[in-house]
Amino acid sequence: MSGNETFTETAEACRNCNTSMAPFMSFGPQPIAQNFVAADAGPEAHDDLCYELAPCLCPGCGLMQLQQLPAEDCLFSPSYAYRTTASTRMVHHLEELAGDVASMLHDRRAPFVIEIGCNDGSFLAPLARRGIRHLGIDPATKAAEEARAKGVRVCVDRFTPRKATEIACSEGPADAVIGTNVIAHLRDIRGTAEAVAALLASDGIFIFEAIYLGAILKRTAFDQFYDEHPFTFSALAARHAFAQAGLELVDIRPVPVQGGSMRYAFARRGKRTPSRAVTDLLRREEAIELHDPAAWAAFAERCAQIRNKLRPTIELLRNRDGPVAAYGATAKSATVITYCGLDREVIDCVYDTTPDKIGLLTPYSRIPIRPAGRLPEDTPGHVLLFAWNHLSEIEDRETAFRAKGGRWLHYHPDILVD
Ligand code: TYD
Repeated sequence: MSGNETFTETAEACRNCNTSMAPFMSFGPQPIAQNFVAADAGPEAHDDLCYELAPCLCPGCGLMQLQQLPAEDCLFSPSYAYRTTASTRMVHHLEELAGDVASMLHDRRAPFVIEIGCNDGSFLAPLARRGIRHLGIDPATKAAEEARAKGVRVCVDRFTPRKATEIACSEGPADAVIGTNVIAHLRDIRGTAEAVAALLASDGIFIFEAIYLGAILKRTAFDQFYDEHPFTFSALAARHAFAQAGLELVDIRPVPVQGGSMRYAFARRGKRTPSRAVTDLLRREEAIELHDPAAWAAFAERCAQIRNKLRPTIELLRNRDGPVAAYGATAKSATVITYCGLDREVIDCVYDTTPDKIGLLTPYSRIPIRPAGRLPEDTPGHVLLFAWNHLSEIEDRETAFRAKGGRWLHYHPDILVD
């Protein structure tokens, strides 16, 4: 590991409840997951292994978190590459959520909606079209420009208690605060809870969506652990994290995005009666022992089995059926590549549709990223599916690859050629 200690932040105690905690496994040293490198970058390019990926399950509040993280400024730069519009299904999902929020607020006079991490405006644009007052907060300048082009109001900044108080003073309280795939990214969890509470109207609703811990355990989806996800929530942990700011978990619903997510709804304590879904899920989490260290020790075992088999399987397939490539230059692929010891010798390239990623190299492993449009023409024998969370959308798009005899290679819950 070549990173130095000032470059990383290490938590010995839970960032939420301060209970001391220890990792149950390590995926070893990792690069910054979205630090894609220019094709002509020299060896000095800053794509070192810089932090150790070691998840911990807090014994106090059940919050899964990464003990060590690279400094935050290294991750969310103004040119942050992720775009919601990379997935048509994700855009539809957010349009549906916008519709749900609009109906929820239909009887309020001049409702105000705030989105934390509005990215390219996929969620707020439908509300803007309905004439609903709104504001997105996002530090990524380029994504914010795209949101503005869709008629979305954006404040380019980080979401902090100070920013939230400023907005509450200048714009008034929010009837709804929304955060999809962002709350688990914000490592000051107590500050996030405080900031939401500062913004929310007394009868306001806070909704957030995040990858669900139960889905990771069930599928052995170890690649959901990487630097941009300091936290992974369960219902138990989500309820605990926002309770300290006076917010109560009042509803919960599974959502089929990002490989298995949960939508959590909060209100100020005592303002709404929690639904049956909340108690049911909390009970189910107990029944499946989601917060039991033994469940995560078994998970670590399954991860090691995948790691031990993946590269030999790829080598075998290459020898038998020709080149192996990958699909989806995802952030989570950094964990798979590094933990499972993959490199350019076994993966020729990664196909992707994101214009900003094409032509670059994956961080550290430096595997070239090629346009997904080239896949049918190239048709390697097997393609390792890094963007497994978009399986059905990708299968629909890449029928020509299949028709020419190409096969997908999956790596969890088991290694499987399909
Ligand atoms: P994403 O789901 O955001 O994963 P992560 O959070 O781990 O980065 O990334 C999906 C990637 O897959 C993104 O780079 C776009 C790419 N992609 C395709 O190349 N083709 C597709 O059909 C879809 C849906 C995504």
